[in-house]
Amino acid sequence: MTYLVTGGAGFIGANFVYHMLAAHPTDRIVCVDKLTYAGNLSTLEEALKNPNFRFVKADICDREAITKLFGEERPEVVVNFAAESHVDRSIENPGVFLETNILGTAVMMDVSRIFGVERFHQVSTDEVYGDLPLDRPDLFFTEETPIHTSSPYSSSKASADLLAMAYHRTYSLPVTISRCSNNYGPYQFPEKLIPLMIANALADKPLPVYGEGLNVRDWLYVEDHCKAIDLILQKGRVGEVYNIGGHNEMKNIDIVKLICKALDKPESLITHVTDRKGHDMRYAIDPAKIHGELGWLPETMFADGIQETIQWYLNNRKWWEEIISGEYQNYYQRMYGNR
Ligand SMILES: NC(=O)c1ccc[n+]([C@@H]2O[C@H](COP(=O)([O-])OP(=O)(O)OC[C@H]3O[C@@H](n4cnc5c(N)ncnc54)[C@H](O)[C@@H]3O)[C@@H](O)[C@H]2O)c1
Repeated sequence: MTYLVTGGAGFIGANFVYHMLAAHPTDRIVCVDKLTYAGNLSTLEEALKNPNFRFVKADICDREAITKLFGEERPEVVVNFAAESHVDRSIENPGVFLETNILGTAVMMDVSRIFGVERFHQVSTDEVYGDLPLDRPDLFFTEETPIHTSSPYSSSKASADLLAMAYHRTYSLPVTISRCSNNYGPYQFPEKLIPLMIANALADKPLPVYGEGLNVRDWLYVEDHCKAIDLILQKGRVGEVYNIGGHNEMKNIDIVKLICKALDKPESLITHVTDRKGHDMRYAIDPAKIHGELGWLPETMFADGIQETIQWYLNNRKWWEEIISGEYQNYYQRMYGNR
């Protein structure tokens, strides 16, 4: 079996590549990634040593390159992680979000149709449901919750979801969609909340928290997300959406305080900065469907996962220091420049 994984040099995609190589040691994993600022080939250094793994630098919007790759690899399964993923960047510059997240997904689905893949899995987000009020802890997002987006990022992801369902209905493309809550864990780009706070705290730099930091997110350890997607690929029903969440709601400010405590840094480093435009208040997933149908449950408790994550960033300083310095962008050149 050959799996084509897009965006595998990013945070969740790379964790998924490692999960699949370990969980399906006889299968082939082909990773396509454009290596934008968020892609880091050094993350895949260990995978590149595995003969069942191939990396291809390409843009998912590049129909010709993607068609050529499908012709070479004939993948049975496509898992589409590739995306522009940072909400703040989408507020600054929506255009590239529309290109990659919508048009790129359409290209991947068109080529998947032509080559008759057995499954096209679209990795989506709980942000497509908009947000929930803080004073209604009884409310959760189910797969039936209407799409109601807030940012250019979430709107682009919702558009891709709608297109994916349309390709299923119109062309019978065997689509599944997963909508996951906030992930944390190894290899997350240090512009996102948890790694940013760890890196800044270690450098005794201010810890910028939007507004009062009361926004609530439902945090899931990345490996649990990868296992859920794998399960959907193996046992999920085509044409279905599956919500994935950790039942682990935390206020941003509490996460930052927890990181200060774990690193023995003073909370006085916390600085409150002007809130993000249109900032969603609360996300909370009801994962009853994936639990009931596929038996999935998160395995990593937040208390353990966050300690492991902090330890990972302590043990892998080179990985994130090279990102902060920009050095990681030379890795592709070093690996492939002279070939
Ligand atoms: N991070 C989260 O908490 C979270 C939660 C739910 C869903 N998601 C979704 O999971 C997916 C992965 O998120 P992430 O946090 O790993 O993102 P990320 O930004 O860390 O990685 C994205 C990857 O996609 C690649 N990419 C971007 N544009 C591309 C293009 N045009 N062609 C090929 N590759 C391209 C980048 O180089 C990068 O390697 C996204 O689709 C995101 O919407 C993320």
